[in-house]
Amino acid sequence: MEHIGILTSGGDAPGMNAAIRAVVRTAVYEGLRISAVYRGYQGLIEGDIVEMGARSVANIIQRGGTVLRTARSKAFMESEGRAVAARNLRERDIDGLVVIGGDGSFRGAYKLFEEHAFPVVGIPATIDNDIYGTDVAIGFNTAINVALEAVDRLRDTAASHDRLFLVEVMGRHSGHIALHVGVAGGAEAILLPEVHTDADEVADMIVAAQERGKTSSIVIVAEGAYQGGAMNLQARVRERCGYEVRTVILGHTQRGGSPSTRDRVLASRMGYHAVRSLLEGHHGVMVGVDKRGIVHVALKDVWELRKEIDWELIELAGVLAI
Ligand code: F6P
Repeated sequence: MEHIGILTSGGDAPGMNAAIRAVVRTAVYEGLRISAVYRGYQGLIEGDIVEMGARSVANIIQRGGTVLRTARSKAFMESEGRAVAARNLRERDIDGLVVIGGDGSFRGAYKLFEEHAFPVVGIPATIDNDIYGTDVAIGFNTAINVALEAVDRLRDTAASHDRLFLVEVMGRHSGHIALHVGVAGGAEAILLPEVHTDADEVADMIVAAQERGKTSSIVIVAEGAYQGGAMNLQARVRERCGYEVRTVILGHTQRGGSPSTRDRVLASRMGYHAVRSLLEGHHGVMVGVDKRGIVHVALKDVWELRKEIDWELIELAGVLAI
């Protein structure tokens, strides 16, 4: 292997830049050429590719977002698009590719590996943390800290006014953010896409808490947990409980900002190991972390299997809300 490419794909996540820096610098350290592909798979199809050096990634470790920019490419979902992408890589003598993104991005990476025998390694980066095969993805730690800071602020005003706050966090298909922020923020209830909860159940929990002497409450709602989102839930809950209810949607604020120490270190480790993987011939895999340390997981498993929610945390949240 002499020349590798790198791209970011799907939703951005804080720490992607630290991963890009680690990949570029490890490649240079190992004596490889390294090229940046801009705008994800779309840029790959359009040939938006520029060679980099160690200094190209100066001063980015602390920045949120991705300096390579990102896109969701419809063309890459088609085999014709992937054929153009593989040709563009080979024409530039690129013989390995690092893809930084979420499970949708890894589906594309797997197809490139399978259909064109192109050496690919994935690095998991999504605030949703819903990637099979790794305990944690780049961006999750920063996102939960951003959301938690907001919840702590809302708790001050909720307590002062005897109010109920519904706080909607990101997670269209997964509740990892909601669960962690809910436990860390002392929420009365946590609504997840993985567990069906209706408005009456939420209202019952709030009314019961009022009867136990609580004078304000925080409920964390994952974006995909309730049809129509937290705003819709507000209308239903207000009718049933005595509180004034306010709803706050944290939205994309959770995706931006400077990455935490933890995300920068994780990104640096994963970036280094992704290049090592390409060099050592572990292809068609994602670099992950679990209690054993760095692991390599087949890309096929990554996008086909689903990461479980931490059921123990759900139980814990219920106990501690007493
Ligand atoms: O980054 C993941 C995620 O935050 C999901 O939780 C959310 O549903 C989605 O991205 C929204 O992304 P976009 O606005 O880019 O479609």
